[in-house]
Order: sequence, then structure tokens, then C-alpha cells
Amino acid sequence: MTGTRPRIVVSRWIPGDAVALLREAGEVWLPEPDRALPTAELHDAVAGADAAVITLGEHAGAAFARAAGPQLTVVANVAVGHDNIDVPALAERGITVTNTPGVLTDATADLAFGLLLSVTRRLGEGERLLRSRTPWSFHLGFMLGSGLQGKTLGIVGLGQIGRAVAARARAFGMSIVYTGRRRAPADVETGLDATYLPHEELLRTADVVSLHCPLTPETRHLIDATALEAMKPTAVLVNTTRGPVVDETALAAALRDGTIAGAGLDVFEHEPEVHPGLLELDNVALAPHLGSATVETRTAMATLAARNVRAVLAGEPPLTEVTP
Ligand code: DGY
Repeated sequence: MTGTRPRIVVSRWIPGDAVALLREAGEVWLPEPDRALPTAELHDAVAGADAAVITLGEHAGAAFARAAGPQLTVVANVAVGHDNIDVPALAERGITVTNTPGVLTDATADLAFGLLLSVTRRLGEGERLLRSRTPWSFHLGFMLGSGLQGKTLGIVGLGQIGRAVAARARAFGMSIVYTGRRRAPADVETGLDATYLPHEELLRTADVVSLHCPLTPETRHLIDATALEAMKPTAVLVNTTRGPVVDETALAAALRDGTIAGAGLDVFEHEPEVHPGLLELDNVALAPHLGSATVETRTAMATLAARNVRAVLAGEPPLTEVTP
């Protein structure tokens, strides 16, 4: 640690008392006013830091660690996903990495369901119709969507968020199938009445495919043209994990030509850009990465990140460590 008090760099504004918590543990620097720092500025800012709190917009790998210097002890991501961090590169240098699992589970599951309802009940399309002042009147065939009761939800990745989405789906009268790298424990399967299926079979079976796997080299473009072809023409894809899990060009084509019926997307392959083909389509519900965007959740995420930093700086084990 440099000097008497640790230097803690926070890459962007964080809500709640998190900064106050950090100030009890060291000297805190953060950009004021808040803005996204270009990489070179972030690297300048982090020089001499003992701890860094970053968000998913910033990348922390070997160059980040070199810019910080050998005293950097902990990088706390204010996100559960950590594809913005090269965890092995930091681990090699003895830097602890933490994330924020658990506290954003419900908010993200709620948003996945919101997007699903938005696309199946044509809420965005209906709102666009009204806002464009297009004349309309109620009739029995007007803007018919499709119901969820009795349909099958296919969860890709039955982690905490996948399970929370499954629980919501049960309340909507859906049956649950899931796939993933490994089977869930028997009590989880029983509790959710969820049936494990191999990936291909899930794609062929599900009426809704909801993605909850992390972005890794193995899951990049997991949903590509072949996967979309395997899905039912009536199926809906929901993505609240990371954009690059889906080949967006293939998805735009599949939605345009009716290979699948619709999509609800909170995340994008080249975020913040959205594939122009998707913007033209009415059978897509879009949100600008809002999965964890509630005051309560973001506050809990920031607090957890701050507590992780405090623990590591105090020589204690972090609450939620990411291991390589
Ligand atoms: C996460 O935590 O990974 C979400 O994508 C952002 O909150």
C-alpha cells in the first residue's frame, strides 16, 4: 500500500453510501463530473491505486494492472458479469477480483419478464402506434399477441438469474426446461419443476428461449444462424445477459424472415450500438441495458463492491470473489 491511506480509484459515479464507505477505508478519487473515461485517462487515474472500483464499461486486464502499479490489490466490478475483466491476468499479479452476484437477481429477472411480455403482447408496437397518432379502434382481431400460459420456457444457464426467471414463469403457468454446462442440483430441478435438456433439444422444444449464461469464449455467438434455425417459428428469444452471446446479424435476419417470431433484448453485440436491422422491426422489444437499473439494486451493487474493497484492504476475504 502506498502512503498511509490506500488510494481507491472509482471509475464512475456510484450510488448510495458506497463512496462514503470507501472514504472510511482510504483516499477516494472519482471523475467529477461523472463521465466515461477514455482508456488512457483511466490508466492515468489508476496509477498508484491500491484498489479500483469499475463498471462494465471499463476493461481491466494486464495493461490496466501495469498502469496501476504493483501495489494494486483489488479490482471490484460493479456488475455480476465480469467479461470486462481479464481475471487470469489480474490473478497472476496477485490482484483479487470481485463482482456483485445475488443483489441484482430479481431486478434482472423482472426485466427479462418485462421484455418477454412486451414482445408477446406487442406493448412497444402498441405504444408506437398511439404516439404516432395513428387512428385505431378496438376490435376483436386488433393487435393480437400470444399468451404465455401452457408454453415452455427454455432457460440457457440455470444460475441465480435463470432460476429467478423460471420462478416467475411458473407463476405464469409455463413449464420449464433448461440447459447449461452442467445439471442443476436435484433439489433445484424439483423446486422449479425444471427439466434438463441438451442445448439443441431445448432450442427445438422451447416457446421462449431466455439467455442467462455468462459471456465466455464458449458462449460467444451461442445463438447463431444455426441455433435460430433450430428454434420454432413461433419462438421468442430473450437476452438479458451479454449481447455477444447472440449473433445480432443472424438474429435480425431471423426476425425479418420469420425464422423466429420475436425477441426481447436488453443487451447488444456492439453496445451501445444496436444493429440497424433490429431497429426497423416491430417484433423486437428493446431496452438499453436496464437489467439491474433500479435504485435499490444499483445501490446494493455499489455497496457490495465497496464492502469487497474494504474487506480486501483490511486483509480479509472478499464477500464475492471471482476466481480465475
Ligand atoms: C451485470 O451486473 O452484469 C449487468 O449486466 C449490469 O448490471
